[in-house]
Amino acid sequence: MTRPYVATRSGEMLHRRSFDVLVLGGGIAGLTAAIGAARRWRVGLLTKSTFEETTTFLAQGGIAAAIGEGDSPELHLQDTLQAGAGLCDEEAVRVLVSEGPDRVRELMDICPRFDKVDGQIVLGREGAHSLPRIVHAGGDATGSEVSSALAEAARLGSRVQLYEDEFVIDLLTVDGRCVGALTLNLADGGLTLNVAMVTVLATGGAGQVYGRTTNPLVATGDGVAMAYRAGAAIRDLEFVQFHPTGLAVPGQQTVQLVTEALRGEGAYLRNAAGERFMTEYDSRGELASRDIVVRGMVAEMRRDGVEHVHLDATHLEAGWLYERFPRVTAGLREHGLDLAKDLIPVAPVCHYFIGGVVTDVWGRTTVPGLYASGEVASTGVHGANRLASNSLLEGLVFSDRVVRDLDRYIGRLGEDVRRLSFDIPEGAPAGTSSDTAAARGRLTDVMQHKVGVLRRAPELQEALDELGALTSELRFDLMGEAEYEILNMLTLGTQIAKCALLRGESRGAHLRDDFPELDDERWRKHITLRLPEHERSEGVGKVTPRE
Ligand code: SIN
Repeated sequence: MTRPYVATRSGEMLHRRSFDVLVLGGGIAGLTAAIGAARRWRVGLLTKSTFEETTTFLAQGGIAAAIGEGDSPELHLQDTLQAGAGLCDEEAVRVLVSEGPDRVRELMDICPRFDKVDGQIVLGREGAHSLPRIVHAGGDATGSEVSSALAEAARLGSRVQLYEDEFVIDLLTVDGRCVGALTLNLADGGLTLNVAMVTVLATGGAGQVYGRTTNPLVATGDGVAMAYRAGAAIRDLEFVQFHPTGLAVPGQQTVQLVTEALRGEGAYLRNAAGERFMTEYDSRGELASRDIVVRGMVAEMRRDGVEHVHLDATHLEAGWLYERFPRVTAGLREHGLDLAKDLIPVAPVCHYFIGGVVTDVWGRTTVPGLYASGEVASTGVHGANRLASNSLLEGLVFSDRVVRDLDRYIGRLGEDVRRLSFDIPEGAPAGTSSDTAAARGRLTDVMQHKVGVLRRAPELQEALDELGALTSELRFDLMGEAEYEILNMLTLGTQIAKCALLRGESRGAHLRDDFPELDDERWRKHITLRLPEHERSEGVGKVTPRE
């Protein structure tokens, strides 16, 4: 979808900021990049909401790293490749697992609250890891512990200029090179041109395009959509990871995650008859990779005509459960459930976007001046199915690499882009405004029911038709956060449905009911998308540099 994105409201004043390095996103990837880059460069970090409103903040599992006795980067590599079902980039995985341990040790210096017993770090186990290798903090509160420590380090110990409530409308490009971003301040509605030599995209995922997700409200795929409009290659969008154990209570879009670490500690999955079933699908039982657990759950739910199975932790000691899983315990209490006493209803839920903006092993996208790190990026480490707790690690490792590379990149730049100024074309008034909440409801409903965990060609085609109709119906007079978000979500939803229809096989997180087998001969490859050049310049309303 192309439209004049950066058209401003008439007569609006544009503010201006300029940086050496502009970081977009306040999760682990953005904060790590900003703190690292600020050692040498003038850095601005913009986040769409607050540092508490990120996917990182919600992470329960932990961070996988080969630091335990008997573990090695080679074992971590093998587990990651096996989970990735033939689509991992082995060079990128090697970087992840070999640099991971040092990055995690450095993080422990910033965030001292990682869980230890007798001074020794405690390692948890999660699905498809061949041995315990997940470090965690505050039990299942790893995300909030890490986020808070990094945000504090950025605020107090570094020279990063931090801006919250700053919605990124679009990337600024000049002659195909990224030179910053146009943003909308959500508190005062002001527009700002943020000009920078280098921009680091770390805007996270897009779970909110689905009707049920573990992701926070801000996860609307803005980064992938704006990078696509700017001409960056994006790929693997059909690989949307559904987490097996989202709390199955009706009527909620943002769903409480019931961490995989519970199964790592010995909790079982039980079907409608109360029987354990996962060992029938995989010898690793409940600790098979996520795609396999989801397939097993869906098969049982279909056969029994039910909408969920149960997670059973009632055989584990109550006091220990509450202490090890304080977040899950508190979340379940809100629904009148007790981890130690009740069977917990769980069903697969949209959790993680494996695909994203294509990068090399230094975080460089195909657009000069634009780097990407974290969930927004497709580094190739996850293949077709992400191994549990590899995502925070990916943000740490690749943001560190971005910092090392941008030192080289900025050093080589002859021209100072900070001196550029811009004209923003104005949009023509539509004369009417669509209801964004209704449009969002239609979109998430289509995605949940027609592009969900188990896919078939007729529904995927219907989804594409409905999303196409919705896109062409939308009209906006004034553009604000909700309007930009729905357009970004439609871009993402449409491309996910297209790629899912195209990939006529089942692989990793992409399950096709009508193509249940893996087809290596035709499909051991990525689907990569790139907006044609003429659409980039004509449709997107790019800023034009002035003398
Ligand atoms: C979980 O805690 O189950 C989620 C961890 C992850 O997504 O890696």
